[in-house]
Amino acid sequence: MSSPGWSLRRLDTVDETRIGGLADLLIDCVDGGASVSFMHPLSRDRALGFWRRVARAVVAGERALLVAEDALGVCGTVQLVLDLPENQPHRADVSKMLVHRRARRQGLGAALLRAAEATARECGRTLLVLDTVTGSDAERLYAGLGWQRVGVIPGYALMPDGAPCDTTVFYRELRDEPSAG
Ligand SMILES: CC(C)(COP(=O)(O)OP(=O)(O)OC[C@H]1O[C@@H](n2cnc3c(N)ncnc32)[C@H](O)[C@@H]1OP(=O)(O)O)[C@@H](O)C(=O)NCCC(=O)NCCS
Repeated sequence: MSSPGWSLRRLDTVDETRIGGLADLLIDCVDGGASVSFMHPLSRDRALGFWRRVARAVVAGERALLVAEDALGVCGTVQLVLDLPENQPHRADVSKMLVHRRARRQGLGAALLRAAEATARECGRTLLVLDTVTGSDAERLYAGLGWQRVGVIPGYALMPDGAPCDTTVFYRELRDEPSAG
């Protein structure tokens, strides 16, 4: 899949160059105030450690990793968590949807989400779940692309600066409608 600004693909292995690019992307998002599991400031070592664990999970088939790259390198990513309990073989969690600040508001987030849905179908998954900060850009993105709001959990996580934030849980059923387009 491609657009004028980036190329988007699923990776089966993640080399050190891409791990570095993914670490820089994660640091950019945390620097920008996104609540994506990490507190500010996020060191490069810590970010690299996270992506090396993800890389091992990708090789093990426990996660699907989608990466978008522009002329400067990695500019977006999203994951599907596939290693869920044996009574949920039809389900995946969408995780770590990240777009670099240089690439935002050009449709990349939407393209990543649609690509994640298409990948989930390819993996035989028919139900996707995610959560995101209530009132965030991401919440608007998911709602706008047809995801169903389940509800809000107050005070679920911390923003990178330590302020508590609410989380909205979403799901999407893939059974009835194709998502690629
Ligand atoms: C949430 C996030 C992934 C969205 O990425 P994005 O690439 O900016 O998403 P899109 O470009 O598809 O959509 C964002 C907005 O740009 C608009 N847009 C899309 N293409 C556009 C274009 N060509 N010109 C102008 N606006 C455009 C969309 O309509 C949308 O508008 P809205 O915010 O008013 O609803 C990004 O903001 C991000 O990485 N945030 C930090 C990390 C984060 O919070 N991740 C979510 C974890 S759950």
